[in-house]
Amino acid sequence: MADRFAIILAAGKGTRMKSPRPKVLHEIGGRSMLAWSVALAKDLGCKRTVVVVGPDMPLLSEAAAKFVGAENVVIQRDQLGTANAVDAARAALKDADGHAIVLYADTPLVPKEAGVRAFAEIEKGASICVLGFIAKLPNRYGRLVTDGNGSLNAIVEANDADELQLRIELANSGVMAAPVKLMFDLLGQVRNDNAKGEYYLTDLVGLARERSLQASVAHCDERDVQGVNSQVELAQVERVFQDSVREQMMAAGVTLPAPETVYFSYDTKIAAGVTIEQNVVFATGVSVESGAVIRAFSHLEGAKVGPGALVGPYARLRPGAVIGKDAHIGNFVEVKNVTIGEGAKANHLSYLGDGEIGAGANIGAGTIFCNYDGFFKYRTIVGEGAFIGSNSSLVAPVTIGVGGYVGSGSVIVEDVPADALAIARGRQAGKAGWARTFRDAKSAAKKAGNKPKGAV
Ligand code: UD1
Ligand code: CA
Repeated sequence: MADRFAIILAAGKGTRMKSPRPKVLHEIGGRSMLAWSVALAKDLGCKRTVVVVGPDMPLLSEAAAKFVGAENVVIQRDQLGTANAVDAARAALKDADGHAIVLYADTPLVPKEAGVRAFAEIEKGASICVLGFIAKLPNRYGRLVTDGNGSLNAIVEANDADELQLRIELANSGVMAAPVKLMFDLLGQVRNDNAKGEYYLTDLVGLARERSLQASVAHCDERDVQGVNSQVELAQVERVFQDSVREQMMAAGVTLPAPETVYFSYDTKIAAGVTIEQNVVFATGVSVESGAVIRAFSHLEGAKVGPGALVGPYARLRPGAVIGKDAHIGNFVEVKNVTIGEGAKANHLSYLGDGEIGAGANIGAGTIFCNYDGFFKYRTIVGEGAFIGSNSSLVAPVTIGVGGYVGSGSVIVEDVPADALAIARGRQAGKAGWARTFRDAKSAAKKAGNKPKGAV
């Protein structure tokens, strides 16, 4: 098989986004659109991926260099159109021998199979292959002009199309494959005598046909190639992504009573046999094992949830939260960078940050791990089977030994040995009859109109 190369176009200004952030750094499913295209190129086995960026886009160049290496980031000086953008990769790919695929970074959800189909057409002998789809509202998309036998004659941009061509429903996704050398050869002939005065990549098809070369269409679904040009379209593509993950999750045995209210990231891993209630958000880096239940209104990020665990309602799991088998994390409990042992429970209103909680430990309502002194962070270790009374502050670094017991309302600043009790609060005092005497004196004063000094 010929070597594969990818050219990702990301130099457009994205003015319709009206955002200070470069368009393709906006995210779908918790990952930038640029990263989606880079991942596709990798999945397609591309030997090298070149990303074309604009000048004065330091954030974008930096992100691209992180993904593909600075040597594979090229700058398109002026945004003269998509053909001019691909041409910016000419020097970087001068020694490349094989087949290239052009991806538009503003079209993030192209499935691997669609890319495979486009390359396959070239491998079978087509000179150029474009990924096309039937558009419900073809609008601004370029139209694919085919002959009766399904081979492609030309792509006409919407602005340049006549009445008849505008009625064509087969639209250009922007994905195009061709042998590298032929692609750059044809690019040299592209002119800008069109409505926008731009150099269109789409003209390559007509140019290839003039040389009697074969051009073909690979087909895909509209929802896989929806492009993002505005904030509204960004949200639409996010919805397409979310709907498809929800469907995949349910097909794989995840129970979602209200799938439309649950939000996933590109890397969320949920095992069969997990139930996810309403209004749950999975930010990046979460895995949940079988039998766990994530109850309503929980937010999870960078967390691992073990089998049979119960999380929420209203729980917040932050990066480094590792919830053991059958453990319970209840309402208004925030967990960050803490490993929680099997069957341990923190059921109500707690902040557990930086530490370890042993199996079977019970963390009372209102427990706080005081992990930060304003400069550094420290760990709290709670041993197996320990019991932390409600409303306790554990001032880290501190260790509660195995089976240790902390009295409610304690502020613990020293380690507690195994099986010991620690109480760190004012001792209770009692005065018999005090309340009655107090009330009698006050009500008499009020009746007599004697306001105490300072009363208002
Ligand atoms: C393009 C296609 C159109 C297709 C549609 C699919 C052309 C001429 N038209 O239109 O047929 O239906 O995509 O979404 O290709 N870019 C650069 N440099 C430039 C111009 C653009 O890098 O000078 C990049 C943009 O960042 C973007 C991509 O190329 O990632 C597409 O450009 P855009 O202007 O959005 O093209 P469309 O008008 O959407
Ligand atoms: Ca576009």
